[in-house]
Amino acid sequence: MNKICVIGSINMDLVVNVDEMPKKGQTLIGSNFKEVPGGKGANQAVAASRLGANVCMVGKVGSDGFGQNLLNQLKNNNVDTKYIQIEEGASGVALITVDKNAENAIVVSPGANFKLAQKDIDNCIDAIKESNVVVIQLETPIDTIKYALEKSKELDKFTILNPAPAVKLGDDIIKNVDLLTPNETELEILSGVSINNEDDILKAAQVMLEKGVKKLIVTLGSKGSLYIDKENKIFKKSYKVYAIDTTAAGDSYTGAIAVSLSQGKNVEDAIDFASRVGALCVTKEGAQTSLPTIEEVLNYKF
Ligand code: RIB
Repeated sequence: MNKICVIGSINMDLVVNVDEMPKKGQTLIGSNFKEVPGGKGANQAVAASRLGANVCMVGKVGSDGFGQNLLNQLKNNNVDTKYIQIEEGASGVALITVDKNAENAIVVSPGANFKLAQKDIDNCIDAIKESNVVVIQLETPIDTIKYALEKSKELDKFTILNPAPAVKLGDDIIKNVDLLTPNETELEILSGVSINNEDDILKAAQVMLEKGVKKLIVTLGSKGSLYIDKENKIFKKSYKVYAIDTTAAGDSYTGAIAVSLSQGKNVEDAIDFASRVGALCVTKEGAQTSLPTIEEVLNYKF
């Protein structure tokens, strides 16, 4: 059963390019405005599907114009949308600014994503039952996330939590996470350890392992990524590419890890594959517009 269930957010990204990020109180003229399908959950679902996985998504869109477009985008990418509901009102929207160094700043208006409730998890329990890996992020209500993780573990599924955007998490959530995929900033918020060097990352990871997370992969941007469990530590340098937009790089990485683990690959192969996927993602603009297909990953000469 190689199936992935993604429970999470679906947003329309409203993107503008700037040279420098605006300062507080500053108005800037940007360029290249685009509407791009995004949302961490939907990005991870599309990433996994383009990489060849059988993916089902659980989430909500609004009854506005964006909702149907977002749903169509998922369907066109072969994501099973049976458990995505259309709620009266606004869809999730993300306001994204991308600077000339390919870095971004994102503000999310959650809209329909914040209407995902525990009863919706009960209603999609078959989607969880049919999957071997369940992937969740933090752009839907925290009580729903906690419940979804509990139900997934009751059903003995492998759970991946991409803790973005990061908030402090209770131990009752953490204990049901098999694999956590934070970046450095997210790890700092989750662990309470301030991170300035590799030793700090290890200290922070240790805090999370003690809280009950089974494994972590810390994404380090252009530096690479670090796998840590109670016995092992594996560092993978990133593949060098020319980055134009880092939006959804973390999502593509988490999606790729989910694919590899659902196929029974070992951790080293999984992080190598995810590093290739993440590298290709930053070479293109936008969120779902930048997610590579399996053919692109296999054919690219790194
Ligand atoms: O991780 C990138 C995503 O974060 C964007 O697509 C945006 O919608 C926000 O959810």
